[in-house]
Amino acid sequence: MDKIIIHGGKRLKGEVQVSGAKNSALPLLFATLLAPGVHRVSNVPHLRDIDTAEKLLKILGAQVERENGTFAVDASSIESVEAPYDLVRTMRASVLVLGPLLARCGHARVSLPGGCAIGARPINLHLKGFEALGAKITLDHGYVEARARGGLRGGRIRFDIPTVGGTENLLMAATLAKGTTVIENAACEPEIVDLAEALTKMGARIKGAGSDTISIEGVRELQPFAHAVMPDRIEAGTFLIAAAMTRGEVRVRGLCAAHQEALVLKLREAGVEISGEGDELRVKGPRKILPVDIRTCPYPGFPTDMQAQFMALMTLADGASVISENVFENRFMHVCELQRMGADIAIDGHTAVVRGVKKLFGAPVMATDLRASASLVLAGLAADNTTEVARIYHLDRGYERIEEKLKGLGADVERVRE
Ligand code: UD1
Repeated sequence: MDKIIIHGGKRLKGEVQVSGAKNSALPLLFATLLAPGVHRVSNVPHLRDIDTAEKLLKILGAQVERENGTFAVDASSIESVEAPYDLVRTMRASVLVLGPLLARCGHARVSLPGGCAIGARPINLHLKGFEALGAKITLDHGYVEARARGGLRGGRIRFDIPTVGGTENLLMAATLAKGTTVIENAACEPEIVDLAEALTKMGARIKGAGSDTISIEGVRELQPFAHAVMPDRIEAGTFLIAAAMTRGEVRVRGLCAAHQEALVLKLREAGVEISGEGDELRVKGPRKILPVDIRTCPYPGFPTDMQAQFMALMTLADGASVISENVFENRFMHVCELQRMGADIAIDGHTAVVRGVKKLFGAPVMATDLRASASLVLAGLAADNTTEVARIYHLDRGYERIEEKLKGLGADVERVRE
């Protein structure tokens, strides 16, 4: 198992290029299952979750070739409609094959993902949505079995809470349903807009993606598509915070500034200087970090996937901040590890009160999930002495060449095999 060793205290300087978004690449790769022919998905980041998606596509019968971040997926023949436990266990987003398989084959079997480090994370809303499109759902030995004899038909879905994966799964399923589907209280994340753009290139008829009501007029068949994955707004945000925490000066390139608005507003409140627009932001860390409260919410609110990293920043603020996690029930796993580095954090239910300290101290810490790992790396970059982050396979699920990119900004970071 690899670990990352960070000798902290270096001010980050220079330029860094953002990779394609994992959370967009995954649904786009699974959308290829909707139509026969060769699809091309480019700007795909090189990550462990993407390797898992490739394995799953191959198990289902697709032929996959990848070269320099471009995937050519030939989904002409589907040989299996089952996503096995071993893959779903390592990557929950595997459940996103349900929608495309059900729409194209009328049948799909996917292992129930179970809980994970950040909460229970059920898929009940996905399943309720498929039922509204006429699918019969049964549970059998830990697997969800969805069947739609004679195909899916359009219907009205109103999610109890906006779910990103649920919206993506239903959006894909509805493209081939008979008639019109309306998804209300849909998630509005930019990754949904990216998916809808690709589906539209395939011939799907979609209106309202990016708003809370999406309507989809089903078509008989779809064609292969070519699409470049949007920039990773969470990776970009993590670099913005890395620069801020180390009092550095960094140009983050290849992002979409419009997607960073909630974070940028909060960083400015914290005294961080940020300028730029379009596909680039320049950030300059302040001498004094001011305390700022955040509440995580669905897009366009403050992203839950940036909560752990923002908390790392607040550990060094000049005062107390309140961080409320409203999307996942158990997303404070990084707190104990940050405390081992000298952070002063108290948790009460969904809320953490972070009292800024003058310094963090390097320590051996353990990554518990993807974004928690990122917060520990950030803390390590700003801390005195040496921080060792173990179990960084979590980090490799979502950050492409992170240590190389940080080294390019002058960080003293190395990866070692344990
Ligand atoms: C996606 C992202 C993840 C991000 C999350 C919220 C991917 C691959 N992952 O996850 O990085 O943190 O959005 O922005 O894109 N819920 C239910 N029932 C359901 C579905 C969801 O109760 O059927 C709940 C979840 O437990 C959670 C909330 O809804 O509390 C939001 O989850 P959701 O938006 O579905 O997250 P994911 O799509 O799993």
